[in-house]
Amino acid sequence: MSSPTFADRLNAVATETETLLARLLGDAPLQGETARPDRLTAAMRHAALGGGKRLRPFLVVESAALFGARRDGALLAGSALELLHCYSLVHDDLPAMDNDDLRRGRPTVHKAFDEATAILAGDALLTLAFDILARDDVHADAQVRIALVRELARAAGLGGMAGGQMLDLAAEGRFADKRALSETEIVTLQAMKTGALIRFACRAGAILGQADSTASTAVARYGAAIGEAFQIADDLLDVEGDAATLGKAAGKDADAGKATLVAALGVSGARRKLDRLIAEADSALAPFGAKADTLRAAARFIVERRN
Ligand code: IPE
Ligand code: IPE
Ligand code: MG
Ligand code: MG
Ligand code: MG
Repeated sequence: MSSPTFADRLNAVATETETLLARLLGDAPLQGETARPDRLTAAMRHAALGGGKRLRPFLVVESAALFGARRDGALLAGSALELLHCYSLVHDDLPAMDNDDLRRGRPTVHKAFDEATAILAGDALLTLAFDILARDDVHADAQVRIALVRELARAAGLGGMAGGQMLDLAAEGRFADKRALSETEIVTLQAMKTGALIRFACRAGAILGQADSTASTAVARYGAAIGEAFQIADDLLDVEGDAATLGKAAGKDADAGKATLVAALGVSGARRKLDRLIAEADSALAPFGAKADTLRAAARFIVERRN
């Protein structure tokens, strides 16, 4: 039998993640919970099931494989991260934020339900992520689970994704006069709003595999490069893609006055930057040799994807 392609590997993780998420978002209350309101469960399932590339769980699983960590623990940690990512999308789409009606080819949560339900669904997805990361099934060693919880909290919060979203909205000129951001400022904003969760995905494999600090640093360097590339590719798709392929609105960033590298460097400048980031990702993976080929392919997928 021929060895699995990159697409086969990505699809396998997507399928396994979907199954896990469907189970985690069941309606039976867990020990310590009182009841799970049907409307909130339905909104969370709408946000998390039946769509998405599942790239972040894939990166957790593949980086865990690099360090010999157990796949089932990595899939569970990846599912926790995916729930947190889905929360970030639900809130990102709210009228007070990017005000989007379409996500993953379906109405956004506040359109399918209502704004208050969408806010609460985001809150509950975020907290469920940490509930899952703390579970014994993620890793037998509690120190490993604590490290995952702490790193995800920092990637998602004030100095990470949420902080980056704040800078993103501020850069639109919502809170003060609009000021053009420098390239360095845009890179920082994007490293926070998007890069932090992608870096965490790569770091999670090293944490699960209890990798040494040299290997952990190398995989974090790879994560930083692909995280930066990921948002540039997203911003290029906003310019060049269409809603039918993307499953979300296109052509909105320029109108909203978003601070992007596409706006700062132009389309061809942004593409040159992507080439440099792929080279950086490859160079970070050099110490791992052929064992890191799937992660190398993931970097290419990130810049070549159509949605
Ligand atoms: C979209 O992320 C939000 C950004 C960080 C740019 P993805 O492109 O990974 O979205 P899904 O999960 O595949 O829908
Ligand atoms: C979103 O960036 C980053 C998040 C933290 C969700 P965008 O606002 O560009 O993501 P899309 O284009 O709506 O998916
Ligand atoms: Mg946004
Ligand atoms: Mg958005
Ligand atoms: Mg976008």
